[in-house]
Amino acid sequence: MWKAVILIGGPDKGTRFRPLSLNQPKPLFPVAGVPMIQHHIEACVAVPNLQEIILIGFFPEDENLKNFINHCRKEFNISIRYLREFSQMGTGGGLYHFRDQIMAGNPSGIFVMNSDVCCNFPLSEMLKFHLKYASPSNSSTILATNVPSKESMFYGCLVENEETKEVTHYVEKPESFVSPLINCGVYLFSTKIFGMLAEAVLRNQEEMYAQGVFSDSLSLSLEQDIIMPLTDLGSLYAYQTTSMWSQIKSAASAVYANKLYLSLYHKTHPHRLAKSEEGGPMIIGDVFIHPSAKIDPTALLGPNVTICADVRISAGVRVRNSIILNEVNLSNHSCVLNSIIGWKSTIGEWTRVEGTAQQPDPNAPFAKIVSGSLFDHEGKLSPSITVLGGNVNVESEIVVLNAIVLPGKDLKSCTKNQIIL
Ligand code: GDD
Repeated sequence: MWKAVILIGGPDKGTRFRPLSLNQPKPLFPVAGVPMIQHHIEACVAVPNLQEIILIGFFPEDENLKNFINHCRKEFNISIRYLREFSQMGTGGGLYHFRDQIMAGNPSGIFVMNSDVCCNFPLSEMLKFHLKYASPSNSSTILATNVPSKESMFYGCLVENEETKEVTHYVEKPESFVSPLINCGVYLFSTKIFGMLAEAVLRNQEEMYAQGVFSDSLSLSLEQDIIMPLTDLGSLYAYQTTSMWSQIKSAASAVYANKLYLSLYHKTHPHRLAKSEEGGPMIIGDVFIHPSAKIDPTALLGPNVTICADVRISAGVRVRNSIILNEVNLSNHSCVLNSIIGWKSTIGEWTRVEGTAQQPDPNAPFAKIVSGSLFDHEGKLSPSITVLGGNVNVESEIVVLNAIVLPGKDLKSCTKNQIIL
């Protein structure tokens, strides 16, 4: 029996995702038509004998989160629950704090996943690899992928023995190049990790005691307190993937992840991809349309477009490479390119909301392939897409280019390369 834990962080995390994380927890932001972490959950459900999925974070358990969990329980007929950290406990602290709940039922191992990665989550393949290469009761498996050398330093970097697949060296976000093979933030851990976490807690307590610092806060790092000791013990194995993988840190990277997940739907959920049909809008490439959206047949959508629930799209509208969130209204002949339009926003007639999809410069240092052309080398909010927060009203016949607009704003004139606070 296996279990899965998804680390969803909390309100202090996801700052690079603002203003979109102001309205709802970032892990619930829709990418390719479903909340970001539903992609993780769907992958878990496909693993034979995976019996429970536990979300660990420090978000308040609001209606959004409750509704999402209830929806997934019903849809996937699996036990899913949210365990809330009383304060931010780091990537390893929640695993330790909730160890009894995680270990209930005596699972053979635990998948752990970062919520902010976009991936085809080859969990069943990882499991097969784990049973073949690792010694499942003692060893753990990490999902790894190759990235360009200069980019690798933004991630955990690992070196493996190519024959045995054992990880021989691991450095978290090194200052100089170590290896192009990086940690994808997806693991299959042996239950031995709880002993390691207990040792880390003891070490921290001893250090605090020696320094005369007394605190009841618990913070552990999955990378420092599990991955590195596992590597030292020769108990970590790398399963390499050459399939899609990217982080979702900024709003721009969500547009890129949207493109990746839509392309994955050809294999996993072809029914989620819209097609041009008589009486419907013209569709180019990969497009998701929520069934409740109302779209004029003269609209032209795609490629790489997600239209969420209750959106209204009028005559002659063009949308490309964009995410249109719930209840947005795109008026006649408006055009949205390389953008995210926030919940309940309104775009006036003949208005153009656009980001610049720059062609990647192959000679640029730190060109970030995992992000395509849509975000800068540090993965920060790129000026190359336009993001409108919720309830933004853009008047008719204006142009909004490469702008970030905070929720509730009323744009009456053209704007370019600006952050509208
Ligand atoms: N529950 C909980 N509590 N989750 C947390 C906390 C916390 O205190 N802090 C972070 N997380 C979650 C985040 O929501 C995210 O899903 C994941 O843990 C990792 O977040 P970061 O700490 O921001 O790490 P990172 O994304 O910069 O780097 C990690 O992931 C990379 C792959 O995406 C590292 O593991 C890297 O080595 C790795 O390459």
